[in-house]
Amino acid sequence: MRLSVIGCGYLGAVHAAAMASIGHEVVGIDVDEAKIAMLAKGKAPFFEPGLQELLTQELESGRLRFTTDLSEASSATVHFIGVGTPQKAGSYSADLRFVNAAVDGLLPYLKPGDIVAGKSTVPVGTAQELAPRIVETGATLVWNPEFLREGFAVNDTIAPDRLVAGVPSGPEGERAADVLREVYHTAIATETPFLVTDYATAELVKVSANAFLATKISFINAMAEIAEVTGADVTQLADALGHDARIGRRFLGAGIGFGGGCLPKDIRAFSARAEELGQGESVSFLREVDAINLRRRARAAQLVVDALGGDVHGKSVTVLGAAFKPHSDDIRDSPALDVAVRLHGLGARVTVTDPEAIENARRVQPQLTYVADRDEALAGADAVLVVTEWDEYRTQLDPTAAGDLVSGKIVVDGRNCLDPVRWRDAGWQYFGMGRP
Ligand code: UDX
Repeated sequence: MRLSVIGCGYLGAVHAAAMASIGHEVVGIDVDEAKIAMLAKGKAPFFEPGLQELLTQELESGRLRFTTDLSEASSATVHFIGVGTPQKAGSYSADLRFVNAAVDGLLPYLKPGDIVAGKSTVPVGTAQELAPRIVETGATLVWNPEFLREGFAVNDTIAPDRLVAGVPSGPEGERAADVLREVYHTAIATETPFLVTDYATAELVKVSANAFLATKISFINAMAEIAEVTGADVTQLADALGHDARIGRRFLGAGIGFGGGCLPKDIRAFSARAEELGQGESVSFLREVDAINLRRRARAAQLVVDALGGDVHGKSVTVLGAAFKPHSDDIRDSPALDVAVRLHGLGARVTVTDPEAIENARRVQPQLTYVADRDEALAGADAVLVVTEWDEYRTQLDPTAAGDLVSGKIVVDGRNCLDPVRWRDAGWQYFGMGRP
């Protein structure tokens, strides 16, 4: 099939390459000339495991190309919209300007029978509002949310847990669902559930999935707060809870909480949309989810302050991690970087290291010191703070060897990813989040 993908960020670039890899002919389109130039040369503009290889392979196959020229979408019959929907400045709502621009830009190139498939995360009601403009051209709009996780985006796109298609009612909707079944034929052949819904349900599946995941993380972080005043260990609590199959252990990792380009802004946009609908109270708990999440960042900074005797002024603190999670170079709303900035604000001399995210971090927080080499970053530290659970810190950092590099053997484990016994045995004072 001939596909176009509008927007070549974390979502669109991966989608374009993944669709080419399953045999489609794909044109990826973006307004960002620098990004398109990189992609066209086969260079991934961000770190995502597997993407680089896939780009090289698919550009070579001739099935994948990239352009800034929207008119090239006219050769395709299915058009994916994968542009960003960031948080609006000064508000909780999602900023839909990129979605609107993508749709308006595409309209002149749509033909009767074409399918426009929205993948961006949007407030419920958006598809209904966009549809009339698209229908006028003879094309059909479907809403086909994307559930990919950064770090696993390639696999999540090729072999997702489920596919959701929000379609209009009637034969036109049935045809559109059939076209999407053909697009995703490889996933469907391996019995991936394909759910056909109306627009509103499809839009809600995405935002409610993210709201659920955020709530699960904040739930365990709330338990971490209780553990901190009772002497309980939240990691043991999570293990025990996780054995209940109805609860499950995943996303019960207590620590400095969630960040990234999705969960934080999606729960805020959901609250804002629910309020516009006069139903804000239904998701008012999301405000609490957000508040718990942000409190954990402050708590991690406070643990460092307390461990250093109440004042970090002039003290050297080495922060291991800047990305919002491992296997990613994304620092959007990164709790790791936020904690580093807080400590810098309190007067500490903060050195940050990360295997992939230093360039991105330096761009937004240039006041911090960045060191690429982990051991060099550790040299002379009065305290060490682990905030992104990369293997480089979690399993590959030897506490005895690290102890020889630092000035003070204090470690704050913002992700509960280190073995406290090992670190204490090597002479470190270990502080976890919600652990005695
Ligand atoms: C998320 C959703 O998982 C994905 O389905 C959606 O499409 C986009 O948003 P992503 O932002 O890539 O994906 O990251 P995710 O793996 O969900 O992690 C989000 C944040 O939660 C990270 O900062 C992570 O460190 C944190 N987290 C995750 C925890 O603090 N504890 C956990 O137990 C799990």
